[in-house]
Amino acid sequence: MSDEKMQTKGRLTTRTVAMPGDTNPAGDIFGGWVVSQMDIAAGICAGQRAQSRVVTVALDSMSFIRPVKVGDILGVYTYVESVGRTSMNIHVEAWVRRGRIGKREKVTEGIFKFVAIDENGKSMPIPAEEDLPDYVHEAMNELY
Ligand SMILES: CC(C)(COP(=O)(O)OP(=O)(O)OC[C@H]1O[C@@H](n2cnc3c(N)ncnc32)[C@H](O)[C@@H]1OP(=O)(O)O)[C@@H](O)C(=O)NCCC(=O)NCCS
Repeated sequence: MSDEKMQTKGRLTTRTVAMPGDTNPAGDIFGGWVVSQMDIAAGICAGQRAQSRVVTVALDSMSFIRPVKVGDILGVYTYVESVGRTSMNIHVEAWVRRGRIGKREKVTEGIFKFVAIDENGKSMPIPAEEDLPDYVHEAMNELY
C-alpha cells in the first residue's frame, strides 16, 4: 500500500514546519527535533486524558522510518493506547507533507509513556475515563 493511502492513527495534535535551524550536519532535520515535537504532542494528549500535569517517563519502540526535510510540514498524531494507575502509553506518529504541498509520508512512530503528577511532582492516579467531563471527551475526540 502506498504511504498516501496509509491511514494515520490517532488525532492530529500538532502541526509545524521543519526549519533550516533544525538540521543536522548532513542537511536533514535532526532526529532530536522530531522526537521533541512528538513529546510535545504526546504531552498534550496525556495531559488531556489525565487532567493534570504530566511528565515523560519512558520512550518505547521509537522508529525513524524516513528523513524529515527542511520545508516539510510535520503533523503529529496521538492517541491513548493504554492507561495504568498513574501512567499511560501514548501512541505517537509523525507524518510529513513534503515541501508543504507534496506527498504525505509517515516518518516516525513510537510509544511515549507519561506519568500524571501533582503539584509536588509526585505520581498521582489517572481518573477513570467515565469520570471525565463531557468537554474533555469532546476535546479528545475532536478531529481538526
Ligand atoms: C515520573 C516520576 C514522577 C515517577 O516517579 P516514581 O517514584 O517512579 O513513581 P511511581 O513509582 O509511583 O511510578 C509511577 C508510574 O510510572 C511508571 N514508571 C516509573 N518509572 C518508569 C520507567 N523508568 N519506565 C517505565 N515506567 C516507569 C510506574 O510503573 C508507575 O506506573 P503505574 O502507576 O501506571 O503502575 C519520576 O520518575 C520523575 O519525575 N521522572 C522524571 C520525569 C521528567 O522529568 N521527564 C522529562 C524528561 S526531560
